[in-house]
Amino acid sequence: MASAQQFDVVVLGAGAAGLMCAMESGRRGRRVLVLDHADKPGKKILISGGGRCNFTNLHARPENYLSANPHFAKSAFARFTPADMIALVEKHGIPYHEKTLGQLFCDRSAHDILNLLLKECAEAGVKLQMSTSIRNVQKTGPGFVVETNAGEIRAASVVVATGGLSIPKMGATGFGYDLAQQFGLKIVECRPGLVPLVFSAQDREAWCDLSGLSAEVVASARQKKPQAFREKMLITHRGLSGPVILQASSYWRPGQPVTLDLAPDSRVFAPLLAPKARRDANAALLALRTILPARMAERWLAVHTPPGLTKDWTNASIATLEQRLHAWELTPAGTEGYVKAEVTAGGVDTADLDAKTMQARNVPGLFFIGEVVDVTGWLGGYNFQWAWASGVSAGQAA
Ligand code: FDA
Repeated sequence: MASAQQFDVVVLGAGAAGLMCAMESGRRGRRVLVLDHADKPGKKILISGGGRCNFTNLHARPENYLSANPHFAKSAFARFTPADMIALVEKHGIPYHEKTLGQLFCDRSAHDILNLLLKECAEAGVKLQMSTSIRNVQKTGPGFVVETNAGEIRAASVVVATGGLSIPKMGATGFGYDLAQQFGLKIVECRPGLVPLVFSAQDREAWCDLSGLSAEVVASARQKKPQAFREKMLITHRGLSGPVILQASSYWRPGQPVTLDLAPDSRVFAPLLAPKARRDANAALLALRTILPARMAERWLAVHTPPGLTKDWTNASIATLEQRLHAWELTPAGTEGYVKAEVTAGGVDTADLDAKTMQARNVPGLFFIGEVVDVTGWLGGYNFQWAWASGVSAGQAA
């Protein structure tokens, strides 16, 4: 029987976090092996940002992340900042641009980011082994034994970077959560994040024939401290999507309403209140069409006009209409699930991890990084920044 291969560090998962960690650890002279069951590394990097990889966000702060412990990520973000990622991208001569709201994208393709990571890993002497199933991970006295379909590997440290549950067809598994539980770490309940919302049957009836229409709105999901986002909303054939809905979805819980302001910063029906102004359905529609696409405006008025309004158009009923436009509450039936979710919210409980190193508090040598951890970013390059920062933190310690 072949003897077990020996490494200092085995990284499970050749995604963003795993490759960054391997590179950092390899640079320190550690002998690093990265294992992945997929046939190629970094598949999610390649599909990210519409193929251009939104690799960081200039404004990334701990406040842009959801976690049971909002302070946990601070140490990692201080260790590896967006400026550090930009320096790495510039070192490799990769052209990039700011699209909007601090979001940095490659000019050419996400392949540039993956190639950067693979090149740095190769230079740091990291060994990459793809198409490898991991059967079992056990703690031995001085380290770990990782059993794979290709034999046994021994290492002083194991870094779990197997990502979350989103996009199962790209190889996402619950492996990291199972392994965490095997070693006694807790899991904060997982749910799809950055995901389109599905209408109730009644709302679907009222809105879905308008699929494809979009508007800039403010959306918030009702939480103790509601987090509001202002971006594009899109009506789909099953519900609502667009960046603003994806953002709000991470804060949404089943049964709760989502609140939409369809006309941020404007008093749409104010013209109707002017002396001698026309006060009728046409005037209201004309006013609303300055803000919303014509068919959306028409439908919204048909659904939301208070009973009796069309009879007398009093100041009070116009004010009610205005108020409804700025606080349209609807309760989604659910989300589109992990099949469409960009990320998994929840994950390995940060209370069981050391914030400086990502090491399990009670299992020396075992680390968790990236999406598998209960740290979930907003849309816009924030999730990769977490993958890089947590990867570097573990790479400096493992
Ligand atoms: P990641 O999922 O990248 O890697 C995990 C690796 O582990 C994979 O290679 C997988 O094959 C492997 N693995 C899983 N289970 C295994 C097992 N049992 N055995 C062996 N290997 C296993 N974020 C952002 O900041 N900017 C963006 O532009 C985008 N765009 C985007 C688009 C789309 C469509 C999606 C789905 C997601 C994004 N994201 C994003 C989110 C971003 O892709 C995500 O947060 C990171 O890829 C997470 O990196 P990880 O390394 O943690 O996991």
